[in-house]
Amino acid sequence: MSKTFYVTTPIYYVNDVPHIGHAYTTVACDALARYKRAAGYDVLFLTGTDEHGQKVQKAAAERGEQPIDLANRVVTRFQDLWKALDVSNDRFIRTTDPAHHRSVEELFRRVQANGDIYLGEYEDWYCTPCETFWTENQLMEGNCPDCHRPTDRLKEPSYFFRMSRYQEPLLRHIEENPDFIQPVSRRNEILSFVREGLRDLSISRTSFSWGIPVPGDPAHVIYVWFDALTNYITGAGFPDEEDRFSRYWPADVHVIGKDILRFHAVYWPTFLMSAGLPLPKKVFAHGWWTVEGKKMSKSLGNVVDPGAIAAEYGVDAFRYFLLREVPFGLDGDFSREALVHRINSDLANDLGNLVSRVLAMVGKYRDGVVPRVLSFGTEGVDEGLRDALTACLEQVDAAMDDLAFHKALTSVWEFVGVVNKYVDTTAPWALAKAPEKAPRLDQVLYNACEALRAVGLLVFPFLPGTGREIWRRLGLPRPVDEGRLEELRTWGGLPAGVRTERGKSLFPRIEVR
Ligand code: ME8
Ligand code: MG
Repeated sequence: MSKTFYVTTPIYYVNDVPHIGHAYTTVACDALARYKRAAGYDVLFLTGTDEHGQKVQKAAAERGEQPIDLANRVVTRFQDLWKALDVSNDRFIRTTDPAHHRSVEELFRRVQANGDIYLGEYEDWYCTPCETFWTENQLMEGNCPDCHRPTDRLKEPSYFFRMSRYQEPLLRHIEENPDFIQPVSRRNEILSFVREGLRDLSISRTSFSWGIPVPGDPAHVIYVWFDALTNYITGAGFPDEEDRFSRYWPADVHVIGKDILRFHAVYWPTFLMSAGLPLPKKVFAHGWWTVEGKKMSKSLGNVVDPGAIAAEYGVDAFRYFLLREVPFGLDGDFSREALVHRINSDLANDLGNLVSRVLAMVGKYRDGVVPRVLSFGTEGVDEGLRDALTACLEQVDAAMDDLAFHKALTSVWEFVGVVNKYVDTTAPWALAKAPEKAPRLDQVLYNACEALRAVGLLVFPFLPGTGREIWRRLGLPRPVDEGRLEELRTWGGLPAGVRTERGKSLFPRIEVR
């Protein structure tokens, strides 16, 4: 049986419609999932929506709606967007799914059976937008230290989770597994947070009802973060589908934004430890997007609608921008100017131009048919081309293991540059003028097309539509979705005799006014 790879996005709150930040995380996970499938893994890629909690209940009440109706309405916005952005999630989870309900109850019971839950009274501050508890000392001028919005004083009976018990085991785990929390700057933040001491955590609420009731005490609903984090095991089949669960859990990586790292790197592992379940192998917290230099907010009216951007500039162009513009882990800024610049330089000039010139020459000199060759050529340029692909495959693989999408793309574009250079150096238009050079022209055109086949598969995880189109224009019998990176390790996989199609420009230049 093949190796498995389990990757997750956060599950997004349904009190708000999707924006560029949600698209970022999900597209990154999609690229990783597609890459791992191409690398031969049996992949489980999970995304979904976080539908319980005070924040959603409040948003529904403000609209005079039931929370479930709000959720049903907004969930389609997420699902439609993922379809539009060519996202290949294997499963979509909603925390209102009955299977998830069972999973949360079961996790709660296991933690309880381990003696880690007790009834007490909560008296502190609560930030509803962040769904987070704070002590008096943690507040900043009375406001939430994370989002700076006002907090509410809460005093109510509450079940507590003995998180304090897990301070030492968690510290040990983080220290012994240097890759557990990435990037390293985030890991250091969490290390110092945990070293300062873990307090027990309130994990139930009585002041509202939109959530999963505490087993045996339905006056309480389970804290929304306990509920939400559990989605990652529900999605893998916990607790009923045992084979599936043991196959995919622990997750290879939870990809999240840096805003919710503490929940994933502190709360979640301690819940799992208490329940006796394995911890995820990695939590990767990426950076934050601003828009034209400003924080995105409804009041500023600068929230970027990913569907609209993709419709205007193209899905692949948008995906490429997100993953190439900013090193994964650092903060980034979205602007149309930067997007257009990327499209014109990398997509139109480099990639689009390569595809169109190679296929145009095959059309012009060989009637669109990939020529048959006896050898792939022994000149320096030929060897250079093959070596460049080998190097590229290795670099991309290493980059993807680090979730360094920008580096992976840089390597692919270096290869695109080598192929463009190959065409310049071998000058097929000159070879075409001399009849005795026909075998060499065949070789050069074959090699250029074979390189395009590799480019098609290499760009596919990031730009799925473009990868598919390159393979289709090359006349390949299979869709690139079924392509395996392994097949690129020996030069010459492109069948001779297939009919190619020049097609129109993949990425027309965008005029800058
Ligand atoms: O926190 N830049 O959901 P959420 C980059 N339901 N990424 C951004 C972003 C930005 N400006 N804005 C949002 C929740 N994101 C919980 C998660 S998981 C068990 C529960 C992305 O709808 C980023 O991935 O507020 C961030 O972590 C997530 O959206 C927060 O989405
Ligand atoms: Mg949020």
